[in-house]
Amino acid sequence: MKIHLLHGDITEQRVDAVVNAANSSLLGGGGVDGAIHRRGGRAILEECRALRASRYPDGLPTGQAVATTAGDLPARWVIHTVGPVWTTGEDRSQLLRDCYRNSLRVATELGAASIAYPLISAGAYGWPVEDAIRQALAVLVSAESASVAEARLVLFRPDTLELAERILAEQRRT
Ligand code: APR
Repeated sequence: MKIHLLHGDITEQRVDAVVNAANSSLLGGGGVDGAIHRRGGRAILEECRALRASRYPDGLPTGQAVATTAGDLPARWVIHTVGPVWTTGEDRSQLLRDCYRNSLRVATELGAASIAYPLISAGAYGWPVEDAIRQALAVLVSAESASVAEARLVLFRPDTLELAERILAEQRRT
């Protein structure tokens, strides 16, 4: 699976699956979640509501992933995943890696050939950016998928892209 690091807006990615940094309600929010629902339109929210009324009455658990239509986005699906909130009280790294792994699993089940991730948990959920990048790349560098040939990590700031490039180069040396 080829990994692309780029600076940009997750809602402009022309890929099969766009990953949303959602919350467990699946009913929208700010940041990536707000941008995806705003640009993707109400079809996404309608499918999220249907998921809450059926498979996820108590909300989507942290680390899990579920797909809906991408609505008006230049993609086929949105894969909603709920990142862990950062805390110094416990190590939630496994849950953050689960977001990347489970989103890739769902994309593969759909037969997606390409996927774009934001930096999950690194915004409102307070995860330190450098470690958020490390966790994402730790999964993506070693991930296999029967269908996904391209995985993008879309960084919202140029300096974050530079940091991600350094970390990827470092991980590829080890
Ligand atoms: N495109 C790409 N990246 C973005 C965009 C965008 N349009 N908007 C924000 N980001 C970046 C942020 O800068 C951050 O690095 O995505 C990363 C994740 O930030 P959040 O969207 O705040 O997601 P998260 O930290 O996982 O918090 C999720 O915030 O929006 C609510 O409903 C959401 O409750 C949930 C929580």
